Amino acid sequence: MLGNADTANALLEQKDYYRARAPEYDEWFLRLGRYDRGEDATRRWFEQVHEVRQSLRALSLDEKNVLELAPGTGIWTEELCTRVAHLTAVDSSREMITLNRQRLGSRADRVTYIEADLFEWHPTREFDAVVFCFWISHIPVGRIDEFLSNIVKMLRPGGTVFFLDARKESTSTAVDHVLPSRDEELMTRRLDDGREFTIIKNFWTAAALVEKCTRVGLTVEVHETADYFQFGFGTRD
Ligand SMILES: C[S@@+](CC[C@H](N)C(=O)[O-])C[C@H]1O[C@@H](n2cnc3c(N)ncnc32)[C@H](O)[C@@H]1O
Repeated sequence: MLGNADTANALLEQKDYYRARAPEYDEWFLRLGRYDRGEDATRRWFEQVHEVRQSLRALSLDEKNVLELAPGTGIWTEELCTRVAHLTAVDSSREMITLNRQRLGSRADRVTYIEADLFEWHPTREFDAVVFCFWISHIPVGRIDEFLSNIVKMLRPGGTVFFLDARKESTSTAVDHVLPSRDEELMTRRLDDGREFTIIKNFWTAAALVEKCTRVGLTVEVHETADYFQFGFGTRD
């Protein structure tokens, strides 16, 4: 596990990385440029994105007050905002929030954006559901239990949690990225202009996530698509 100083430094650099990456962030999701791993990989990626979307769509979020953590450019905010009564979206990057608003256009009226650090921010109310996509892997091992306990506090009893992240698959990331080996929490990320940042990247097994969630009072099931994604959903006990 990383020491306190290394963790703090990586979390700061991770915030800087996403601020700088914001304008090119969607290249990853759209499989463009350094993230283009060939036709077959792209087809498999979007088939598996569809699978994840279907699971998210099957959750009863309609007309609910939903909190999205680390929404980024809005790939999932867009999916959520038309269904919910209201969405609160918390991200530390002003650049990401600006792009998220732009993507949503007039639909952004249904979203309250909060620029804040998720390791410091605590809501003043409970939500019907909490959603976080491609965020859990960026939480240091030493902070994961605290993070999940906070999720419980953010949810009303019986409230819904949904999370999504990457499986450890090398073609998921850019051609010039190397995934961390087991027990290594840090990863070097590059931008299109070659700038490098060290960030946190942890790959949890489905069993470990179920166990950690159960321990804090979240009953979840965790599923994996064939290559790329791991996603979980469930309720606060
Ligand atoms: C991998 S992106 C995920 C974006 C989006 N959920 C998606 O699935 O495309 C991680 C997001 O976390 C945000 N972030 C990084 N560190 C943060 C922190 N300490 N507090 C809040 N947000 C943070 C970044 O700005 C970025 O938008």
